[in-house]
Amino acid sequence: MSTPGPGVVVRVPAKVNLELRVGEPRDDGFHPLATVYQAVDLYDEVTVTPADRWGVEVHGERAADVPSTDDNLALKAVKALARGRSVSPVHVRIDKTIPVAGGMAGGSADAAAALVGADAVWGLGCERGELEKVAARLGSDVPFLLTGGTALGSGRGEQVVPALTQGTFHWVFVMHHEGLSTPAVYAECDRLREESGDEVFVPEHSEPLLSALRAGDVGLLALAVYNDLELPACSLLPRLRDTMAAGLRHGALCTTVSGSGPTVMMLAQDKASAMDLMVALSADGVGDELAYGVGPVAGAQVVRELGGTA
Ligand code: C5P
Repeated sequence: MSTPGPGVVVRVPAKVNLELRVGEPRDDGFHPLATVYQAVDLYDEVTVTPADRWGVEVHGERAADVPSTDDNLALKAVKALARGRSVSPVHVRIDKTIPVAGGMAGGSADAAAALVGADAVWGLGCERGELEKVAARLGSDVPFLLTGGTALGSGRGEQVVPALTQGTFHWVFVMHHEGLSTPAVYAECDRLREESGDEVFVPEHSEPLLSALRAGDVGLLALAVYNDLELPACSLLPRLRDTMAAGLRHGALCTTVSGSGPTVMMLAQDKASAMDLMVALSADGVGDELAYGVGPVAGAQVVRELGGTA
């Protein structure tokens, strides 16, 4: 058994989907996706320390809605990495900033961070590909959060390759406290499509989005941002439409839901415009909470090594 290090703190970002195209459900119930992820600088901190037994605790304003049981995805992650390896238990502490059930992959981010943290504590030195394999089994968004940046996702979202991008993009996020369950939004997407009888295409990445990213052109990006889950998310939570309309009224270049919602993401021209937009939205009482973020940023990273055992 390798001697565990004293513990590490891992910082992990939230994600948005600049594009999310959804195909017909596969036999396993998942939907094939063509997506473009971008990591944004709303961070959770995940502390992994050697312990006598496996455990997890969650802190922060948003902690109450995250399970501190065996159902916690970060705890599942460290146990999955331990499987077949001679390692001692670890304790995982999560300090949450990323909205819970907000469509910004908060749970997946914590799982990615826990993998990076446990790898460091156990001194495994896993190759990125090895961590990605474990990550893919945990959830569709987990592999992306290991690397961050901007990346094309396919399969059910778990197959990621980096995208060529320039520049930094400025986002305003409008949170809604209701929360939306991801499976419910996908199911609503299927239901609405069946009702309309519209043909469902095999999802493909759109060239205009990729060239906007290559050029770092915020105006072109605004025209290309697209999410198939916007309609079903709004169908389940109609006030999202009002939020998006308010964003456009107050100068957002484009708006859509992040992932399966209910967080609404709004693209701004620059930081000053993002601040103006936040002031206007706040004055109008839009949403339940506002945040400013920039992307792309790096994925899960060890930011601190602890001096002794917790
Ligand atoms: O992969 P993850 O655990 O994040 O997915 C949560 C749920 O979202 C799945 O159980 C499924 O209902 C839905 N989903 C889907 N197609 C995807 C990704 C997620 O239907 N590509």
